[in-house]
Amino acid sequence: MNATILPEKENHYPVLLNEIISIISPQYGGTFIDCTFGQGGYTKKILEHSKTKVIALDRDPGSIKISSNFEKKFEKRFYFKNKKFSLINELKLTNEEIRAIIFDLGYSYKQIKDNTKGLSFYSSGDLNMRMGLNKFSAKDAIYKLNQKELETIFKFFGDEKDSKKISTNIVKKRETEKIDTPQLVKIIESSKKKNNYKTHVATKVFQSLRIFVNKEISELIFGLINATKILKPGGKIVIVTFHSLEDKIVKFFFKNLSETKSISRYMPKTKEKEKLFKLVNKKPIVPSNKEINENPPSRSAKLRFAIKEKNVENFEKDFLQKFNYLLEIEDLSKKL
Ligand SMILES: C[S@@+](CC[C@H](N)C(=O)[O-])C[C@H]1O[C@@H](n2cnc3c(N)ncnc32)[C@H](O)[C@@H]1O
Repeated sequence: MNATILPEKENHYPVLLNEIISIISPQYGGTFIDCTFGQGGYTKKILEHSKTKVIALDRDPGSIKISSNFEKKFEKRFYFKNKKFSLINELKLTNEEIRAIIFDLGYSYKQIKDNTKGLSFYSSGDLNMRMGLNKFSAKDAIYKLNQKELETIFKFFGDEKDSKKISTNIVKKRETEKIDTPQLVKIIESSKKKNNYKTHVATKVFQSLRIFVNKEISELIFGLINATKILKPGGKIVIVTFHSLEDKIVKFFFKNLSETKSISRYMPKTKEKEKLFKLVNKKPIVPSNKEINENPPSRSAKLRFAIKEKNVENFEKDFLQKFNYLLEIEDLSKKL
């Protein structure tokens, strides 16, 4: 399960917290945007420094209650919006100098444990998977999309090798039986050739459905684009990802915009591309063995960050072109 969670305890374990704090250095004060407030693990650490201010976002309405405690405790230094981070550009930030924008993708321990959200294959109820501010659920996708569409989602968002067989069996079963979370797990189990997997047999299909239901690809793509637009030179984007598809998108975004060599067919060959970001680390930062021992699910975390150097016009073209095929798969939801 790809989340910053500690299964043995009830608390959320903020992944790579020390590494993030050393990158954004809140001891010097300033305003920070925490795009994935969750249980407020990162925000709390930033606000320990008295000259800081945090603007926090989270799409889960469950975060509103936690955020109201922060609002009381850190009056005039903490502001929360129940909003998706792809819309970060809608925040009213008149002349606000943002020092860093932080994203911690994935799900919190609380969300995974919430049976009504049905994010986990151990959930007992109806298929759902909505994190908050969604238009449709996993149940809608499972019942209303055709076999080919389901296969495409499992294949491209989950890298599921048996996507054809699983989607065919779902479409057969839904004619006669109710498909809830345990039933979907059974269909996946019976569709797979072998059952001696290290990870749970339903991991990939569940990952792909969560990505689809929460439109995580467009959230990430437009979150990165719009965060870059509102950041002034000197500001940082810091992002923790939990699976290879997310990391591939972030890696391309930072790398492409920190090089002068153009890969764009929109750019004249003679004109050198402008560098928007400075990359300090080419490789991602990963959790220490100590952190992985304390919080095993952190083992899949990858932290990348970049410093904005200058404003560049139309910087998003290459990026959108490269990942358009994923956005088109997300668009299958227009049917729902
Ligand atoms: C891994 S948790 C963050 C935990 C947080 N860093 C902490 O220390 O408590 C991810 C959070 O991001 C939120 N989230 C995921 N996608 C989002 C999006 N597109 N817009 C806003 N919030 C999002 C989830 O609801 C969840 O609460």
